[in-house]
Amino acid sequence: MHLAFYGAGAIAERHIDAIRRTGTLDVTWLISRTVERAQALATKKGIAHWTTDEQLPLADPDVEAVVVAYPTFRHVDLAQRAFAAGKHVVCEKPMASSTDEAEQIAAGAARSGKLLLVTQIKRFWPAFAEAHAFIAGGQAGPLVRATVDFQTEWDWSNRGWRLDEAGGYLLDMHVHDVDLLLWLAGRMPKRVWGSGENRADREGTVVLEFDTAYARLEWSGRISGRPYPKGARTAYQLACQRGRVEIEVGDEVITESFVDGRSLGRQSSPIGEQLRASWDGMWSAQAAALLGEGALPVRPEEGINNVRVSMAAVEALNSHAVQRL
Ligand SMILES: NC(=O)c1ccc[n+]([C@@H]2O[C@H](COP(=O)([O-])OP(=O)(O)OC[C@H]3O[C@@H](n4cnc5c(N)ncnc54)[C@H](OP(=O)(O)O)[C@@H]3O)[C@@H](O)[C@H]2O)c1
Repeated sequence: MHLAFYGAGAIAERHIDAIRRTGTLDVTWLISRTVERAQALATKKGIAHWTTDEQLPLADPDVEAVVVAYPTFRHVDLAQRAFAAGKHVVCEKPMASSTDEAEQIAAGAARSGKLLLVTQIKRFWPAFAEAHAFIAGGQAGPLVRATVDFQTEWDWSNRGWRLDEAGGYLLDMHVHDVDLLLWLAGRMPKRVWGSGENRADREGTVVLEFDTAYARLEWSGRISGRPYPKGARTAYQLACQRGRVEIEVGDEVITESFVDGRSLGRQSSPIGEQLRASWDGMWSAQAAALLGEGALPVRPEEGINNVRVSMAAVEALNSHAVQRL
């Protein structure tokens, strides 16, 4: 199946390499806003066609699906045009800059009868897939508390459209964790509240209240003097009634699970291995769905809910008021 790829940015090469490793999909068009970037990436990757004309690949009958990896505020417009041209759409996270736009994309998919896939990569990290299997397997009872503690010293001051045109830091960065928490909990939270700032270089906490569990997401961007590998580390603790999973993400990804106080073993792998496996796993599942051989790995409603909850968190920070969903 031939794909047109919209985007030559930070994430484009990872996608294109993983798409090709499926052996069933290929990228035949590369589209970017500027000639320089479109041409450079298409040449580097040996992609047959490149253009800055967003409509041209949509007129190519050989293209059956498009990947939308343009800035988040462009997702709704590009997805609608692709559906109108009869193409499937694979949309980068977050699905859109607002819940309303995300719903518009899903409605466009339903009207066209074409598939809409949302790329929530974190589910495909082996560590998180195993945590999901541990919790869903029920050996430690139901999930009662999940915590995500993200600490970084990355400089976000120069991150362009991500800072204000597309929901800001929480939506851009932590929609990954929101997806993970909703996927692990298997349901939507009832209330969202929090305190702090929607900025990577400050601190904040958001709490998602589920009916029988709660999740806490914390971030901090200026704990100076700590040599975080790759500039960031995240600690996850996913606690069930009779056991838990702990995952630490830095240079290495370290996981350990416990049931009734006993460790089931501690595993460690380099982050590069987890990342490569996640991109391959995601594109293998997406390829199966696009080819009609498998279910959608992430349903459109899940993509919408991720935006809804992330934006509720932003609103909770801004208004200091509990958000009911
Ligand atoms: N799954 C993940 O882990 C992951 C990681 C990073 C990003 N993403 C998502 O992928 C999407 C793209 O992010 P990115 O980091 O690749 O972005 P980026 O580095 O800023 O690249 C953006 C791409 O869109 C083009 N573009 C078109 N209109 C633009 C505009 N008005 N402003 C800026 N660029 C424009 C750029 O063209 P020119 O460069 O030619 O101007 C470039 O090809 C976002 O939705 C983001 O949230 C996902």
